[in-house]
Amino acid sequence: MVARSFCASTLSGRGARFVYYHITMKSLTLFILTFSLFNVFALSQDAIIDKKIDSLLNLMSLEEKLGQLNQTIGTWSVSTTERISEEQAAMIRQGKIGSFLGIIGAFETGRIQRIAVKESRLGIPLLFGLDVIHGFRTVFPIPLAEASTWNPDLIERAARVAANEASAAGIQWTFAPMVDIARDPRWGRIAEGSGEDPYLGSVFAAARVRGFQGKNLSDVGAILACAKHFAAYGGAEAGKDYNTVDLSERTLREIYSPPFKAAVDAGVWTLMSAFNEISGVPSSGNRWLLTDLLRNEWGFKGFVVSDWTAISELQNHGAASSRTDAGILALRAGVDIDMVSGIYENELVDAVRTKKLPQEYVDQAVRRVLKAKFAYGLFDHPYRNCDTLREKSEMLTPDHLALARTVAQQSIVLLKNGKNILPLDKSVRTIALIGPLADNRIDPLGPWAGVGRPDDVVTVLEGVKQKILPQTKLLFARGCTISSDSSADIEQAVRVVNQADVAVVVLGEGAHMSGEAASRSNLDLPGRQNELLKAIHRTGKPIVLVLMNGRPLTISWAAENVNAIVEAWFLGVQSGNAIADVLFGDVNPSGKLPATFPRSVGQIPLYYNHKNTGRPIADSNKYTSKYLDVPNTPLYPFGFGLSYTKFSYSNIWASSRTIAKNQEIRIAVDVENSGKRTGDEVVQLYVQDEAASVTRPVRELKGFKRVNLKPGEKQSVEFVLTPEHLSFYNLEMIKVVESGAFSAFVGGNSVDVLKTKFDVE
Ligand code: BGC
Repeated sequence: MVARSFCASTLSGRGARFVYYHITMKSLTLFILTFSLFNVFALSQDAIIDKKIDSLLNLMSLEEKLGQLNQTIGTWSVSTTERISEEQAAMIRQGKIGSFLGIIGAFETGRIQRIAVKESRLGIPLLFGLDVIHGFRTVFPIPLAEASTWNPDLIERAARVAANEASAAGIQWTFAPMVDIARDPRWGRIAEGSGEDPYLGSVFAAARVRGFQGKNLSDVGAILACAKHFAAYGGAEAGKDYNTVDLSERTLREIYSPPFKAAVDAGVWTLMSAFNEISGVPSSGNRWLLTDLLRNEWGFKGFVVSDWTAISELQNHGAASSRTDAGILALRAGVDIDMVSGIYENELVDAVRTKKLPQEYVDQAVRRVLKAKFAYGLFDHPYRNCDTLREKSEMLTPDHLALARTVAQQSIVLLKNGKNILPLDKSVRTIALIGPLADNRIDPLGPWAGVGRPDDVVTVLEGVKQKILPQTKLLFARGCTISSDSSADIEQAVRVVNQADVAVVVLGEGAHMSGEAASRSNLDLPGRQNELLKAIHRTGKPIVLVLMNGRPLTISWAAENVNAIVEAWFLGVQSGNAIADVLFGDVNPSGKLPATFPRSVGQIPLYYNHKNTGRPIADSNKYTSKYLDVPNTPLYPFGFGLSYTKFSYSNIWASSRTIAKNQEIRIAVDVENSGKRTGDEVVQLYVQDEAASVTRPVRELKGFKRVNLKPGEKQSVEFVLTPEHLSFYNLEMIKVVESGAFSAFVGGNSVDVLKTKFDVE
């Protein structure tokens, strides 16, 4: 009480800053002495921060409040090293900007922070955000590739490294993890997420949040994470970016929202509202989504930032008829920060003054933003990420590179290995390395590559060179570009292959062909690459196809005709090393697909956890659910990935025949390495509730474990299925376990599984 009345004084300018400084910037002791009537001993750290925010809010003008909700972008002018304009500097001084995106560098962020802290009336520090998606300077594999590791601990460490590097360069907040479920590989942003499955996506969402934010936000190297894009952005019709999403609340809850919930449970500080509408209501103006579900049901306490201009785009959606209305709609819905629309800062001043927008909405959003700034320690240490010496020493360290190589190795998925052509013998006489991605150091960085530099990339050519024996001849020909229409170089590539014992052909997409605004209606290898592959095939030489791509491609011809296929996605700076490690057997591949590979685009959307329909496919019956011209099955199913050894599954076992609704059940299986090399296998557990009040998918992933087995070694792998795993939303949208028969499946992918059954009473 005392604190409140004291701060409610009409002090302004320097006076206000002086008072505020003593309330917020000095130690707890000073606070206690100043306000001795107040029993702070009874207050938690959280409550102390709340008190400080109360004090601060009382001092802030409406313009300063809206300034905290205004995020703007640095300038990219090459004529100056300064990343903000004079106009922006003036706005900072007036308290009209609360956060920036896209400004990098310990020195420059420090310089700009000093303007906020020293030259604005209240000295509130700025937040600097950036898209640190799969690494900062040390670029790791794209998130879809990282999900192929099925190794969340490893990916948590990768996010930790990214946070360390980014924080050393002035960044305090990343717009990651991207946790959108994607069931349509035409959508280019499938590259940025963890694929099609809500369980796998949730595990990785939580791992990345832990990795970015660290154990404690005050740890050196921690940055705020941002789960995006809330929600169902990946459900875009026809895989076209930004497109309309029309889905049921059930699908939203069961498929698209679990990774967001997992991020919230893992303590994520921020969320980003998505561009898309959901069933008629744009996400960035959706109060049910951003307040009822996110805050009231899930208990999220952080703040929500809009996606880029998503607030002003509410007008294009047809949900608001003016900028003012768009701003009011978004703020009332629960979008706390306006990313670059400029609407909160401009239009909402009048909206509050004319009482079109109750002031409480502004205060509530400011409170959330300030809370994050306090929690991050910015009021006490506004320059915590502005140490230029740390910035110099933190990038691309040997430890970071070693981890990037391990992640890249584990991201690789072996799709085919006919006659065990792989691994290649290091003493093979002549290797022809062919393809537009074989000696390419730009595209392996993938989309959203932070401040990654092509010079940091190890190409496949370089990686292979380092592996082979001195007497091995390595020949190279590009053959064609990634996407141009010219076949002029194909003949020369064929001549090169004719001189070799084996052709390693590196094909795929350009980095710009996936990521944002990079949807494709055709998922074949672009340009003349298929023609190149077919010409090489005609030589009769053995072919190892290495793919670099940001999404599942349609590669049916290759799957049929080449000897081996290595799915390498975009693996970042250690691409060439990791690919060579796998090609020559120094690493036994263990990656598993996080997204289904269709046979043709016409099958899309194609995902493993589909429903059965009333007429499941039957070859003998025309009137069942299928196509006339393509099988229902995928080319490669979810969870699929081969190894240089063989794993045999036997003895699936359930700890009980019958359990009660509130009981757990254990499912175990024996996994044996029946091949000749040591290897890792990712053992996967799926369940199906066979008959329920709401139909259930044919199978759903509910657990996985990585085991390392020597040749001949056998291990019993056990999973625990909890009531949560067996539950679903009933017709009243309440999570329940229903009695009846359940199947449990265990295997090395979603199709080749052993099955057991149990009943829930
Ligand atoms: C993207 C976001 C990104 C933001 C800021 C938008 O276009 O959709 O994912 O975080 O830009 O760069």
